[in-house]
Amino acid sequence: MQALTHSGPGDGRQPRPARLEGSDWWRGAVGYEVYVRSFQDTDGDGVGDLAGVTQRLPYLAELGVDVVWLTPFFSSPGFDHGYDVSDYVGVDPLLGTLDDWDHLAATAKQLGLRLFVDIVPNHTSSHHEWFRQAVADPTGPFRDYYVWADPAADGGPPNNWVSHFGGPAWSMDPGGSGQYYCHLFLPEQPDLNWANPAVMDEFAAIMRFWCDRGADGFRIDVAHGLTKDPALRDNPVLREVHAGMHPMEVFASFQHIHDLHRHETAVLFQQWRTAVADLDAVLVGEMDTRDVDRFAEYVKDRNALHAAFVLQVGLSDWDPEATITTMLEYQAKSNGGTAWEVSNHDQARAVSRYGGGEVGLRRTLALTTLMGAFDGMLFLYQGEELGLPDAVVLGHMEDPMSARNGAGMWSRDVARGPMPWSTDPEKGFTTAPIAWLHTEALPAAFTADHQTDAAHSTWQRYQQLTLLRKRHPMLWQAPFELLEQGPTHLVVGRGSLRVVANLGTEPVAVPAAHVGTVLFESADHSVRVDGAHVWISPECTVVAATATTDAG
Ligand code: NOJ
Repeated sequence: MQALTHSGPGDGRQPRPARLEGSDWWRGAVGYEVYVRSFQDTDGDGVGDLAGVTQRLPYLAELGVDVVWLTPFFSSPGFDHGYDVSDYVGVDPLLGTLDDWDHLAATAKQLGLRLFVDIVPNHTSSHHEWFRQAVADPTGPFRDYYVWADPAADGGPPNNWVSHFGGPAWSMDPGGSGQYYCHLFLPEQPDLNWANPAVMDEFAAIMRFWCDRGADGFRIDVAHGLTKDPALRDNPVLREVHAGMHPMEVFASFQHIHDLHRHETAVLFQQWRTAVADLDAVLVGEMDTRDVDRFAEYVKDRNALHAAFVLQVGLSDWDPEATITTMLEYQAKSNGGTAWEVSNHDQARAVSRYGGGEVGLRRTLALTTLMGAFDGMLFLYQGEELGLPDAVVLGHMEDPMSARNGAGMWSRDVARGPMPWSTDPEKGFTTAPIAWLHTEALPAAFTADHQTDAAHSTWQRYQQLTLLRKRHPMLWQAPFELLEQGPTHLVVGRGSLRVVANLGTEPVAVPAAHVGTVLFESADHSVRVDGAHVWISPECTVVAATATTDAG
């Protein structure tokens, strides 16, 4: 049996490579989503805040991420935890002040980190001044900022569109005009009318405001939703809806061709791109579609969004065959405009979705490593680097999607628990007796305190993974070559690098020439040399330099 070379384990205290530069810097970047409310509280009110993010930026720099995406921190009544914005250029006092943002931006810069602001353009809060004016004066200029329609013949909502959070996507004008307004989410989140050019002007100014104050780009909420069918036609019905269905199931019972995923939205993003051209800002859209051609339309010509999140993988349970097929399709059609993630604040945590415990973690790491070999950005969601499973929520649900639809509904809260920094009360997240979202304590082995120091911890493996792209830029710069594909395994070539992913349940043999020096393995001891072949353990991904060449 031949000996295998490893490039050496991470020790958790590795020097941070230089910041990615150039207009295409984002292509090699690893992003990290901070769910601000649950990251770090500094003022003892039980809610995470901007000052808390600043305090923890060195942790993120050490982890090796390049971009920090901050969930909305704007002024908001908080019906959807910040995704209902009442002032796009103000900071929610619960989360801090503009000065706190400035301090955060300055600290990020010093540490070589970039910041993505989560902009929410599909809807505002019903408390936003634009909506108040639209209601108060149906003939005034703000009326047309929103989507209004007369009732159907029976006096009910104008069409069959439903809200993501349950019930119809229409509510009566509180001003008494007799018209309905559209809301694809809560009634407190009225949809903006992107057919009105004034709305684009407003958002161009909002993006300029944040870029002038240090933002490097935007995660665009519901990017697939902005424009609506002008004739407001019914969506085709896919299956019958009945009482007691989860709102997500109800939503999935319609084909969303008239309220979402419209060609006009892709065209609109060309205007967005023009609006940020002189700001060097990067636009990454939330793109909740299973239609890869529609997805590609938003990114492939490089004149609309820079990239979009492939949500499909993160919304599925463990299904290696389907996942590989999906990923290759997005890779082939999107011209590099992809942002990969296994989970975010809207989904069950990957470790739990993929089987829980050691199994779930092994699968999560194998898949994340493979994603890192595909074109585009790779995003981690806070706590992934600690291998966190879904939180057990104690007390009441906070997620409006479940809280408003009755007990027992699956809730996004499971992914939104406070970060377990330490074994202190409330996980070192807050000094308040109880956090805003009360979740069960986790064993000490999950805490950041423990994992940043413990050799071979999950955190250290993620650190090695994030640094891999910087140490071996070939991994994202060299052309993507599909060298071998089985139902549940892949060999990807990137110059002289090889990424061998075995997502199946049996070991897989690949030619030994692929695996000269192992640069990264998603689990220990996942490679075994056997003559002319190398065996890769089940549910493991290995990044290697070929036997004959040096790594780039
Ligand atoms: C997607 C966000 O990620 C989610 O948290 C939010 O509820 C909806 N968009 C509505 O803004």
